[in-house]
Amino acid sequence: MSTALDPSTLVRAHRALTARTPGTHAFWFYDLDAIRDRAAALKHHLKSLAPRLSYALKANGLPAIARTLHDCGFGADAGSLGELELARACGFPAGARTLSGNGRTSEEAAWVAHHGVEAVSADAPQELELLEREAARAGVRLRIALRVNPGIVAGGHRGIETGHSATKFGMSARQAVTAWRDRARWPHLELDGVHVHVGSQVAGAEPFVAAARVSLELVAACAREGHALASVNLGGGFAVDYSGAPAEGGSGREPGREPDLAAIAAGIRALPGAARVRWCFEPGRWLVAHAGTLVAEVLWDKRRDDDDGEHRFVVLAAGMNDLLRPALYGARHVIQPLSQRAGALTPADVVGPVCETSDRFAQAVPLPPLEPGDLVAIRDAGAYGAVMSSGYNGRGRLAEVVHERGVLRLARAAESGTPGARDGVEVTLEA
Ligand code: LLP
Repeated sequence: MSTALDPSTLVRAHRALTARTPGTHAFWFYDLDAIRDRAAALKHHLKSLAPRLSYALKANGLPAIARTLHDCGFGADAGSLGELELARACGFPAGARTLSGNGRTSEEAAWVAHHGVEAVSADAPQELELLEREAARAGVRLRIALRVNPGIVAGGHRGIETGHSATKFGMSARQAVTAWRDRARWPHLELDGVHVHVGSQVAGAEPFVAAARVSLELVAACAREGHALASVNLGGGFAVDYSGAPAEGGSGREPGREPDLAAIAAGIRALPGAARVRWCFEPGRWLVAHAGTLVAEVLWDKRRDDDDGEHRFVVLAAGMNDLLRPALYGARHVIQPLSQRAGALTPADVVGPVCETSDRFAQAVPLPPLEPGDLVAIRDAGAYGAVMSSGYNGRGRLAEVVHERGVLRLARAAESGTPGARDGVEVTLEA
């Protein structure tokens, strides 16, 4: 069992945290060694493509995690000004930073022109005007990847598919070729890459290979007009197994639940023209999901004797404001009590303290009797957990603890006090 999943380490972290900050009822826990292992496994599985690898900071922007992946030789993919600043603060040099996303602002364009990036992904042709203006103002040349919507339905949850025509992302391949043909219009931009991201939590290999095929067709279309594009960025999206099966180093816990990364690399390499471009990936979830756990105290084990029978609710000190995925996507995370109490397992809905029925982590989980103060682990929560948390219901964001080679560190303190009261200072905007 990896350290992140080891109940005794989580209990130790809870004890250390409450000794420092009494009244800590829930926290995030990350195993940095497990992240290093995943980073090494990813490199190993994709090595036949020798790709450039960037960590998608949106999955988890904790500086301790970003720095760990920097140490592992990864670049950083940012989706906003905040993530660009984060990448810089965590030591990623200009050549290891990329910027992607579909709502570019002039501040972001000015930032990349001023501080530098490896490439910016342009989501729409008109974005090129903005990037040209800021690059010209700074007197630099920006490398651009054209984000193309490849028309691929990648499967998984429909809220996180990004690669087909009903989604807002990217330009058509036709628009990309036209932009490339017109590239002289933007003398401060170097249009030399394709960027495609088909979605997240994509379990099969085929969507990635299909995306590579579409990208290479575009590369070939440009080559026919005189000059090939040099790089293809296939984005992120590798699924992780949320079933709670023991992690095996490597590409999969349960066959079919995580994509076969080596097969993806082999499938791409076999495509005509594949050897002539530089491949890039920017995964987030696959690197960090398994390494993170949300640990919460049980507030109440409540049993209600309704007319239609007993209903059991285990109320945790963490809620949907902390981990939104179950409420937002119906995502399933394995929930495990960290102490073993005697008694029959009976089904319980595991819920949070937020005033919403959707504040529910899981339904009908077989659990032993629990007492207030018992700890529960919500597993595989390292990706899109803490980053998507909010101060809803006046609840401050939770502390984040990292574990590395036996040492526990507080990597981010909990938001203290009552955020609502703290933020209530008014400033006159216009009188
Ligand atoms: N590159 C781009 C352009 C992206 O939009 C994303 C994720 C990634 C890379 C990283 O994808 P990953 O390897 O992590 O799948 N909140 C959702 C996931 C949203 C993903 C957004 N974009 C969730 O909790 O499942």
